[in-house]
Amino acid sequence: MARPASVVLTVALILMAQRVCSATRLPSRGCPTFTGTNTYASPPLPLPYDGYMPAIDNETMWLHYNRHAGGAITVVNTVLARYPALQPLPLAYLVQQLGSPTFVKKYNISAVDVTLLRNNGGSMINHALFWRIMTTYNTSTPTNLTAELAQKISATWGSPAVMLDALRSAAGTVFGSGWAWVVYRPDGSLKIVTTPNQDNPLMRKIVPADVEGVPLVGVDVWEHAYYLKYRNVRLQYLAQWGYLVDWKYVQRNYDLAKSGMIDSIYC
Ligand SMILES: *[C@@H]1O[C@H](CO)[C@@H](O)[C@H](O)[C@H]1NC(C)=O
Ligand SMILES: *[C@@H]1O[C@H](CO)[C@@H](O)[C@H](O)[C@H]1NC(C)=O
Ligand SMILES: *[C@@H]1O[C@H](CO)[C@@H](O)[C@H](O)[C@H]1NC(C)=O
Ligand SMILES: *[C@@H]1O[C@H](CO)[C@@H](O)[C@H](O)[C@H]1NC(C)=O
Ligand SMILES: [Fe+2]
Repeated sequence: MARPASVVLTVALILMAQRVCSATRLPSRGCPTFTGTNTYASPPLPLPYDGYMPAIDNETMWLHYNRHAGGAITVVNTVLARYPALQPLPLAYLVQQLGSPTFVKKYNISAVDVTLLRNNGGSMINHALFWRIMTTYNTSTPTNLTAELAQKISATWGSPAVMLDALRSAAGTVFGSGWAWVVYRPDGSLKIVTTPNQDNPLMRKIVPADVEGVPLVGVDVWEHAYYLKYRNVRLQYLAQWGYLVDWKYVQRNYDLAKSGMIDSIYC
């Protein structure tokens, strides 16, 4: 039976829209760690504080997790308490929308609170990813990425090890405090980008268009991440940090980014 052209066209448009939107669909999963009472808690640290040795020492990890990252969560909860309509939104979505005047107007968010959410909501999702992407120190390169991701990395950088080198080089050039990322770009390519302060590549219209993407890997280059052990020698921290990368989660984050499950990356 012949189908009316309009049905074929509609189906084609829906399929195209899904392709175009797949990198930015944000289903609500309430991550990182949503307590169910409209307040967030710290996402769990996968290993004990001393589980990241020798790359990151126990005391740095403890201070980083409890004091630096922990403080931001209190601020986010305080701001959200003023905006009941924002509370049901996934945090990654909320952070992504902060650069949109329409969104800010719709929820009547004051300029001061936009800045608080940008810095502290950014900190929350950035650190949630950072905790997730690190595991026990291991100098071996990964062996079990899917063929698709392995090929994409190979075509872009040559190998996972070279990708990490490029990430470390970019992280080394961040002026002051910030992050370096491997992102999944809206066109499906992979790219290394950096952001200042607690900005995240999801923050459309806040970060430049060529930085936008879904973060798969993120490395914290704020001094609080390394100063106790490495002092001012950031490159030494970065060299060691690369051996903590949990490639299982790089793969997971790639799969989630591709299917638009962006909020789940922060679980
Ligand atoms: C890790 O550091 C914290 C804070 O400095 C300390 O309370 C804890 O006992 C240390 N744990 C180990 C296993 O060294
Ligand atoms: C928007 O928020 C301000 C306080 O920041 C308040 O004075 C104003 O009434 C609010 N407007 C609406 C439409 O809710
Ligand atoms: C280190 O990584 C390699 C390659 O993925 C793996 O075979 C090995 O079991 C890992 N070692 C530890 C201690 O996890
Ligand atoms: C490789 O994949 C298996 C099965 O998914 C997983 O259990 C294992 O931890 C992975 N190894 C590494 C080094 O990622
Ligand atoms: Fe940090």
